Amino acid sequence: MRLIRAKDYQDVSRKAANIIASVIQLKPDCVLGLATGSSPVGTYKELIAKYESGELDFSQVKTVNLDEYVGLPKDHDQSYAYFMRTNLFDHVNIDQSGCNIPNGMNPDAEAECARYDAVIDAFGGADLQLLGLGPNGHIGFNEPADAFVKPTNKIALTKATIDANARFFASRDDVPKFAYTMGIGGIMKAKRVLLVVSGKGKAQAVKDCFFGPICPQAPGSILQLHPDFTLVADEDALSLVADQL
Ligand code: F6R
Repeated sequence: MRLIRAKDYQDVSRKAANIIASVIQLKPDCVLGLATGSSPVGTYKELIAKYESGELDFSQVKTVNLDEYVGLPKDHDQSYAYFMRTNLFDHVNIDQSGCNIPNGMNPDAEAECARYDAVIDAFGGADLQLLGLGPNGHIGFNEPADAFVKPTNKIALTKATIDANARFFASRDDVPKFAYTMGIGGIMKAKRVLLVVSGKGKAQAVKDCFFGPICPQAPGSILQLHPDFTLVADEDALSLVADQL
């Protein structure tokens, strides 16, 4: 694990965007694995700024997102497809026909998960997978469990995740209860993994996942085994492990 210490959220975003930009510059037709949520928004803003200044060209970039809520159409303003368009894709010159996200409207979970794994396999895994970290240590929507789940799967969101995401919906009842998520296998297939984390609310998860034992109760801990894993974390996120740095 390579740890890059950042001052705050903005610094995390700048440092992460620089890493992603270098991947695109070295390999213009790279495959980026992308995440949603509040953690990568600043990173996407920095990437958009680099595109606008002429530093980056997304025309050959392909993407594969981590997850999507089951039952939300792609035009729903809380779907992850909508999130990716409004936070990145609509602002850069990416060909959106090469942007892959699980189809939350496919009621056949088995078929959808198999289709998505075939997409990931056809790419041979992402060149770089960007991740956030749930307050409970989840990556993608791979929630704490008794075992790591390898393939793309349909997962019941935990109470903690529903609570954490309720802020984006009119009410807690509106938060979908299931999601399709890339599994641990798809994430670990990426050639490089970059996780961005910021804030005191994530400090316990950072400690459990990256400074504790590797176990499925702390899903992000599996990244300790990835050969090219970079953690970009700010002071608050590292506040419970400061004595170990
Ligand atoms: C998003 C995802 C989740 C989030 C995590 C952190 O695609 O898969 O694992 O990265 O829940 O969310 P935020 O960044 O909103 O704290």
